[in-house]
Amino acid sequence: MDYPEESHLMKEAEEIAKVFSRTKEFADMMTLYRCAIMEIETKLRVLNEEFSLQYDRNPFESIESRLKSPASIVEKMLSRGLEINVENMEGELFDIAGIRVVCSFREDIYRLADLLVQQDDVLLLARKDYIKHPKSNGYRSFHMIVDIPIFLSEGKRHMKVEVQFRTISMDFWASVDHKLKYKKELKSPEEVGERLKKCADTLSQLDEEMEEIRKSLDKRA
Ligand code: GTP
Ligand code: MG
Repeated sequence: MDYPEESHLMKEAEEIAKVFSRTKEFADMMTLYRCAIMEIETKLRVLNEEFSLQYDRNPFESIESRLKSPASIVEKMLSRGLEINVENMEGELFDIAGIRVVCSFREDIYRLADLLVQQDDVLLLARKDYIKHPKSNGYRSFHMIVDIPIFLSEGKRHMKVEVQFRTISMDFWASVDHKLKYKKELKSPEEVGERLKKCADTLSQLDEEMEEIRKSLDKRA
């Protein structure tokens, strides 16, 4: 899920990360992020179950989560000129814990996202709607940064989690785009970007068409 990792800082980051990732502070912090992922993932799975009772279909195609790699964490801090420590990790990086939910339809994305942030213990910190406002390269997805408390023996800790919602077609495009990224970095002819953007637009039209089909079937039922 990490993207992009092609920075020249990466080699330096890898060296620093080897040492940093062996510290107890780092390991403890990553455990907290793993717990935060479990909390949010469970909430999403519960919503998925409930949704399927109510609407007779599952809104999820898939859900996956990841922790940012130590080298990517260090690289991001280096690129921002931050000192490498767990305080900066927690305070400055919002995508250490990441969850990606792939849905069948765009409207399911908004419904799920709303239901998640309406929950008492989930706080919405930021949202980026790249579905209504696609990136100039054609990238589409709905991103949220949420704050979730995790309850430990010594008290409560608030953690940040990045949640990305996409349709199957948006995920298809982003996966291929990601794979092509390294090649694009080597030689980036404008034409390639234009063709990729065109693919993204075509896929978006297909999403619309499939939604129309579903709506027409719903009316008949
Ligand atoms: P990062 O520093 O990369 O996290 O970017 P940001 O803080 O500006 O966040 P943004 O919401 O733009 O992107 C976060 C994540 O969305 C990335 O880590 C990718 O997983 C995904 N993403 C954003 N733009 C693209 C894109 O053009 N192509 C692909 N394949 N994924 C993208
Ligand atoms: Mg990121």
